[in-house]
Amino acid sequence: MAEIGIFFGTDSGTTRLMAKKMAKILGDVAAKPLNVNRISVEDMLAYDALILGTPTYGEGLLPSQTTGVKDGSWEEFLPQLCAHDLSGKVIALYGLGDQNKYGHRFANGMFELYSALKQAGATIVGDWPTEGYEFSESRAVVDGKFIGLVIDHGNQPLVTDERVAGWLEQVKSELLAVHA
Ligand SMILES: Cc1cc2nc3c(=O)[nH]c(=O)nc-3n(C[C@H](O)[C@H](O)[C@H](O)COP(=O)(O)O)c2cc1C
Repeated sequence: MAEIGIFFGTDSGTTRLMAKKMAKILGDVAAKPLNVNRISVEDMLAYDALILGTPTYGEGLLPSQTTGVKDGSWEEFLPQLCAHDLSGKVIALYGLGDQNKYGHRFANGMFELYSALKQAGATIVGDWPTEGYEFSESRAVVDGKFIGLVIDHGNQPLVTDERVAGWLEQVKSELLAVHA
């Protein structure tokens, strides 16, 4: 089994596309990315190192049936996951958002993952500088940094690949160190 599990929620597919990019860069150490609405909690718990991605929908929320994802998404999956003790899990987060249209709640959804996972005992790695983004407010900023990689592929497509590669370079060793 691969060492790093990659899971995402999505509505229009961009977060899936990013997961695929990451899997390609990571190669053999990463499993095939899967949508959280197609897996069981046990499928995710099989990994101690995880990359989890989410877009933001609604009023700064996680994707869900309520925000229009027919089969459900993070909002439905997260409580099931966090009913488990996640201590020992090392998790890197990435979030998709739109800083032009939603600069007052930019990538807020990623914070929902962060706070629930942390409360369940997970170690979160992979914070990311806020330089290069323009927004007025984001719950995803903690202690002056994003709590994971933020990608605004709609407004800044030209820097996406560089951001993804730079972030993976940073988190790969932290994720692989989980069994060291
Ligand atoms: C109805 C709607 C609400 C959104 N709300 C937010 C938001 O509050 N904050 C944000 O940063 N982006 C918001 N976005 C932007 C999406 O998060 C962004 O387009 C993302 O790339 C979509 O990812 P997906 O293609 O994986 O579904 C919203 C988009 C839509 C269509």
